[in-house]
Amino acid sequence: MTSHLRPTRHFTPRSTWMNDPNGLVHVDGLWHLFFQTNPEGVDWGNMSWGHATSPDLLTWTEHDVALRFSEHEAVFSGSVVVDHDNTSGLGEGDAPPLVALYTSHYKPTSPRAGTQAQSLAWSTDGGMTWRRFAGNPVLCRQSADFRDPKVFRHATGWVMVAVEADHRQVVLYRSGDLLAWEHLSTFGPLGATEGVWECPDLFELPVEGGPGTAWVLVVSLGAGGPAGGSGTQYFVGDFDGTTFTPLPGDTGRWLDVGPDHYAAVSFDNTGERRVMIGWASNWAYAHRTPTPTWRSSMSLAREVSLRRSREGRPVLHQHPVLPEDLLQQRLVVPAGGRTTLTLTTEDGRDPLVLTVDAGQDRITLDRSRCGDVTFSPDFPTLVEAPLPGHAGAVDVLVVVDASVVEVYALDGALTLTAQVFPAAPLTTAQVRDD
Ligand code: FRU
Repeated sequence: MTSHLRPTRHFTPRSTWMNDPNGLVHVDGLWHLFFQTNPEGVDWGNMSWGHATSPDLLTWTEHDVALRFSEHEAVFSGSVVVDHDNTSGLGEGDAPPLVALYTSHYKPTSPRAGTQAQSLAWSTDGGMTWRRFAGNPVLCRQSADFRDPKVFRHATGWVMVAVEADHRQVVLYRSGDLLAWEHLSTFGPLGATEGVWECPDLFELPVEGGPGTAWVLVVSLGAGGPAGGSGTQYFVGDFDGTTFTPLPGDTGRWLDVGPDHYAAVSFDNTGERRVMIGWASNWAYAHRTPTPTWRSSMSLAREVSLRRSREGRPVLHQHPVLPEDLLQQRLVVPAGGRTTLTLTTEDGRDPLVLTVDAGQDRITLDRSRCGDVTFSPDFPTLVEAPLPGHAGAVDVLVVVDASVVEVYALDGALTLTAQVFPAAPLTTAQVRDD
């Protein structure tokens, strides 16, 4: 039985495969999560957009598949925007249309076989049903690896970031109507480039304590992540409407130092707030995780902000939207001290061991004895990361939800997400200070 492995507050698909979050959008008080799914099984394939909604980012209801694969096209990752001014002309009545830009991955039977291009679909019923645009694709570069469009509203119009995955590049486009796109600029390669670049995002945030704002470019990496396999990096810099320029010396940071946080992108239409969700798995072993009736989970929703590090660089801080009913452990590791948190099943089995060393500035998560670890040789059992610079004591928040563990340290300056597959729920916590 694996039902105890199904998280309650992290979204999981009922009975299918899942990877990236897609089309995150907040509309009329409802949070929409679309996601890469295989409507016909628990393995990757037949890629389509699944759909779930939540009033509070904690309780999710799964709906019918929103965009289904077709004879010629798999529906890869993309985004949704609320077209408030009906720039696309696709609206009906007073309500603005929702417009999705997604990647058409053309199958061998298609005249476009071997290429990926960006297509459009729209909804006039608040995101429940979608129509494909007859003029698809709306943006084609004759490229085999051009994908994952993320669109946002900017003073200059609509801006799209997408990837040339193999080239490790983010490509930027602009449009007035979401239909016709012109190339603006190209970013990268820079920072981590071992794996293909996927699922970019670009947004502006105030720098807390000032001055001004900065832009954050997020890009996921298919391999070479911080704990092996896939991971997500980000750059901080400026976007002038055409070009993203990282701050001098910025060669990227990890968004999350754990093994299980990928393809994280932010919601559209959230006003001043910036809320992200990532896929809580890793391409190195996602297809083998031991939950045979569904595959994988999303991360908790995280509100992100920019603050200056001790060296004066703006860095992201992440704060989870937190449920009351999950096991939450808050620790303060004293300056120079070391604290070990051991989580086990009620009868003391399957230990998961988190060590936070404020003297050595290291955090480790040992999942080697926590239940099933043998399903893949690529499932790392010891995760280790440096703690970013701090003044002394280290605050740590640990959230456990069945098979997903999220660690937030230093007020969210460091996050570590990891899957675990214990034989029974990890309900018992023991803390030791050395
Ligand atoms: C990232 C990714 C995307 C692609 C999708 C296909 O995990 O490879 O680049 O659009 O998954 O499922």
